[in-house]
Amino acid sequence: MTQSTPQTMGQQFGRRSWAEPWKIKMVEPLRMVSRAEREKALAEAGYNTFLLRSEAVYIDLLTDSGTSAMSDRQWAGMMLGDEAYAGSRNFYNLENAIQTYYGYRHIVPTHQGRGAEHLLSQTTIKPGQYVPGNMYFTTTRLHQEMAGGIFVDVIIDEAHDPANLHPFKGNVDLGKVEALIQEKGAANIAYISLAGTVNMAGGQPVSMQNVRELRALCDRHGIKIYLDATRMAENAYFIQEREPGYADKSIAAIVLEFCSYTHGGWMSAKKDSLVNIGGWLAVNDWDLFEELRNLVVVFEGLHTYGGLAGRDMEAMAIGTAESMQDDHIRARIGQVRYLGQLLTDWGIPIVQPVGGHAIFVDARRFYPHIPQGEFPAQTLAAQLYLDSGIRSMERGVVSAGRNAKTGDHYYPKLELTRLTIPRRVYTQAHMDVVAESLKIVYDNREQTRGLRMVYEPKYLRFFQARFEPLG
Ligand code: F0G
Repeated sequence: MTQSTPQTMGQQFGRRSWAEPWKIKMVEPLRMVSRAEREKALAEAGYNTFLLRSEAVYIDLLTDSGTSAMSDRQWAGMMLGDEAYAGSRNFYNLENAIQTYYGYRHIVPTHQGRGAEHLLSQTTIKPGQYVPGNMYFTTTRLHQEMAGGIFVDVIIDEAHDPANLHPFKGNVDLGKVEALIQEKGAANIAYISLAGTVNMAGGQPVSMQNVRELRALCDRHGIKIYLDATRMAENAYFIQEREPGYADKSIAAIVLEFCSYTHGGWMSAKKDSLVNIGGWLAVNDWDLFEELRNLVVVFEGLHTYGGLAGRDMEAMAIGTAESMQDDHIRARIGQVRYLGQLLTDWGIPIVQPVGGHAIFVDARRFYPHIPQGEFPAQTLAAQLYLDSGIRSMERGVVSAGRNAKTGDHYYPKLELTRLTIPRRVYTQAHMDVVAESLKIVYDNREQTRGLRMVYEPKYLRFFQARFEPLG
């Protein structure tokens, strides 16, 4: 992993730029959208950025999921698709890539991350069991709940404080896990649901020491750990940068060591692995694999394609290898930090430290006069779109949903608007435009009113809920 590239040469010569280790070969024109068009589009979308047509969007920071630019090599791989129903050669390439980079033994492809979450939840959770996790993720928790599980947040308290500068805000609080085991008994815990970089906390990493200690604790009680490896390569960058003893280890070596402390993992390959669609589930235990391999046939497709075309699996295999290159990750995180630094310099409240895949604006501090029940983060996403056609996403009370038992809103401590940076897609100048627009919205904050929810779907309401402006 230490080839001499402009990046590593730059480090030798003391240059600090995170410049991308690629150049652009193909471009997709962007469309500037007029203010009148934006107002109309937003009203039609019920003030929910998920309901905007992408044609009405200028810079799309809704998500880093499935929005990456693939490399020339990945596109070449698309031409090598072996579209056999069974035993496609691309499946074996993918299996090999996952075994090589994540170290898990048995692989089940799925159409995307939530397909894997579904299979894992159905096979490993008995109704009434607890599923401790380092903060919830929307689809992950829903699948755990639909299997009868009860999610318990065991992330360290620092993660809930957007201003706390803890270097590993994704860490599991081992004391909380111990207490849960004491109270409920190990047999009532399905598994630990561990995420590498915690999306809802602001893309915050987990340290190697934390996962090592978690494994030791779990071994004492016979509890398994399954890793949401969706952004594990990004997590590895923070370990390399911040954790003693890892500065000279490659991203690939760090990912492999981290995964070795877990019993299996799942992936939304639409993130780290640089593809537009795909996912997988991988475990070391043969018996569990047998069950998963059986169940995937019911919900996704045969166990050698899991809902994917052969060409998609080939692009994923190649993307998996590319995602582990140190230069790539350094530029990836470098770009996110560049935007974060601009916003910090301009006094705009964001989650600190800046995490892996996105900037999370702290909507509570941005709009202190808008109560959480009037959806400050949703309001901010709407205002940013109105100002410039930039699309972001709510990650606050709307995303948190309702408690299935009581029917009350979950009121998360974090009320955030996420500016998610797609991989290898936008330039530094685009980041400047985003910062400038956010500054204008910030300067106008006092005149801004909140929203009222006028339509609420039953599941994952943030995707389809509709709102109207108050006042
Ligand atoms: N786990 C994490 C940490 C995720 O961020 C996502 C998706 C999933 C699982 C589910 O994977 O979408 O492939 O089914 N996150 C996207 C986002 C939707 O925008 O953060 P999926």
